[in-house]
Amino acid sequence: MTERIDFETQARYIQEVRERIGSIRPDRKPPTYYIRTFGCQMNENESEKYTGMLEMMGFTPASDMETADFVLFNTCCVRENAELKVFGHLGALKGLKREKPWMMIAVAGCMMQEPHVVEEIKNKYKHVDLVFGTRNIHELPKNLYERLTEEKCVISVYDTEGYIPEGVPLKREHKYKAWLSIMYGCNNFCSYCIVPYVRGRERSRAPFDILEEARILAEDGVKEITLLGQNVNSYGKTLEEKTDFTELLYRLSEVKGIERIRFMTSHPKDISDSLIIAMSELDKVCKHLHLPLQAGSDRILKEMNRRYTKQRYMDIVSFAREKMPRIAITTDIIVGFPGETEEDFLETLDVVRKTEYDMAYTFIYSVRKGTKAAEREDQIPKEVKNNRFQRLLEVQDAISLKKNREYIGRIEAVLNEGPSKTDKTVCTGRTDTNKIVNFMAPEDTVGEIINVRITDAGAWSLEGETV
Ligand code: 5AD
Ligand code: SF4
Repeated sequence: MTERIDFETQARYIQEVRERIGSIRPDRKPPTYYIRTFGCQMNENESEKYTGMLEMMGFTPASDMETADFVLFNTCCVRENAELKVFGHLGALKGLKREKPWMMIAVAGCMMQEPHVVEEIKNKYKHVDLVFGTRNIHELPKNLYERLTEEKCVISVYDTEGYIPEGVPLKREHKYKAWLSIMYGCNNFCSYCIVPYVRGRERSRAPFDILEEARILAEDGVKEITLLGQNVNSYGKTLEEKTDFTELLYRLSEVKGIERIRFMTSHPKDISDSLIIAMSELDKVCKHLHLPLQAGSDRILKEMNRRYTKQRYMDIVSFAREKMPRIAITTDIIVGFPGETEEDFLETLDVVRKTEYDMAYTFIYSVRKGTKAAEREDQIPKEVKNNRFQRLLEVQDAISLKKNREYIGRIEAVLNEGPSKTDKTVCTGRTDTNKIVNFMAPEDTVGEIINVRITDAGAWSLEGETV
């Protein structure tokens, strides 16, 4: 069952906060906000909801964390590094808050679903004002109101089950492309992964809500949507209506104005031939498949609880390439899973060499408390993990460069997303195979899908000129 926010109550709290924000800063200027997002696209999408609500309440964007009156960390707990960074930032803001007592600090996201993290914040980071779990996003106006009227730290963390309320207003980061979450949670319990514990069981949004959101986005000028879920291939399993991800792609393809559809993440154990056929048949569906490998050794895959073999994985890749010869394939790989031997690692390198990924997100295994793999005694020494990681990077970087150089001379359809963040004199955009391209283009082509001739290529991006 879908839950919707209570619009009346929401509007009342937004109004209550609006009336009070003039007295937050000593100079009575509108307070500013800064959001720092860690982790995946799901978090980026959720940060857009926090942004939307903050702006409705009258907050304006700050250029950096130090000058902001309201700082929010949207956290990730998939690897330890991201967690340590959040605690580092929280520690650093302590002194700043002493100088600027009106400053408010909020923490949200996956880390807050770990009970020991919330305890640590309560005990050691008493300068934190607001804590939100992954299903409490919509409570920002209410909790902020309570914080302003009662001067206490407001913690709201639901359990991980149940739905994320529909209808929370958001402010998109990009004008022509948008995230669209189609499902939440994960049931797979890969033995290294904490996501099922902090995001709860898998549940899909109703097709009606997804299609409606896509229509609204299209009306607002969005050309490209990226469907998000931990395992999009099992979309629909929790719904009463009998449907699946392939059908959703066909239905979304009919939304006028949406010209490109991307999706992530696919799980090799659930991917169907019908999905690959749909990808090849549907013009709007981008020819890019993100298919996490994690490891190449069958033994490690089994211990990771991935439920596919190296051979099955390679067969999926072959079938996708047979149906769509120019498809780009990207992946996630973990090195140094407990018990991983040199031979196991060589199996990973073998898949990497044979598959020739367009890009790989590579990770060093990080122990996550509460997961099955964390209990193992055969953890791999740091030096061994680092060494394998470096060797993997070397192999993949050369492949990425080679794959990108194959684009030189080709004419590619690119959605012109406007001036690049790092160099305002050039425009940036992506091919349908998800390659970043930088190019010169007339201003009136911003927001359009245009033809770009690729003139040069590096390991991370392509250079081009409009045709
Ligand atoms: N250590 C390292 N990498 C991890 N991932 C998930 N859990 C861990 C962990 N404990 C990686 C996986 C996943 C990606 C989002 O993060 O590769 O696909
Ligand atoms: Fe984690 Fe595995 Fe679920 Fe991905 S599929 S979120 S790696 S448990």
